[in-house]
Amino acid sequence: MKDFLSLARARYSVRKFTGEPVRPEDLEKIIEAGLVAPTARNLQPFRIFIVSSEGGLEKLRRCTKCDFGTKTALLVCASKAESWKRPFDGASSGWVDASIVTTHMMMEASDLGVGSTWVMWFDPAAARAEFELPEDLEPVAFLVMGYPAPDAAPAQGHSAFRPDSELIRRV
Ligand SMILES: Cc1cc2nc3c(=O)[nH]c(=O)nc-3n(C[C@H](O)[C@H](O)[C@H](O)COP(=O)(O)O)c2cc1C
Repeated sequence: MKDFLSLARARYSVRKFTGEPVRPEDLEKIIEAGLVAPTARNLQPFRIFIVSSEGGLEKLRRCTKCDFGTKTALLVCASKAESWKRPFDGASSGWVDASIVTTHMMMEASDLGVGSTWVMWFDPAAARAEFELPEDLEPVAFLVMGYPAPDAAPAQGHSAFRPDSELIRRV
């Protein structure tokens, strides 16, 4: 079993899959990791759509070019009404909560040997229409998943880390 930092270092965006759908026992654990994610005030203002039917995958392909031939994807949405609002400025936790849920699922997938790519390059209007999202639900992320193809490899940008001195401030 990998420690968390090793898992985080080893994860990369997988954009080439074997073509096998994510196995039900793996999918169940991935979803569970999302369901136990922290959310502001534990309001859980998110919805996870499992996209695995041929019809669902066609819908996905109409929303984004970044489907990478997946057979199993998750669409994570945030509820505007259910999310916590910061009293000082009304800032909503919805996108943050949905992103933590997505991150949990991405890391669990990685731990199980399921590759994934977080996809934000999609047309939100198309996602709304294709997945019949009510006005309240904002599509935040597609998590496109599958078992890495034998020649899957990290993209060049994967290891392009900016220097710590640019990113970290001590106060
Ligand atoms: C919020 C977010 C949105 C992203 N959107 C896309 C996307 O639409 N298409 C894509 O191919 N990769 C997307 N990615 C993947 C990033 O490009 C990738 O995580 C980054 O380049 C670092 O590479 P790595 O994941 O291999 O470490 C996204 C990642 C994040 C966190």
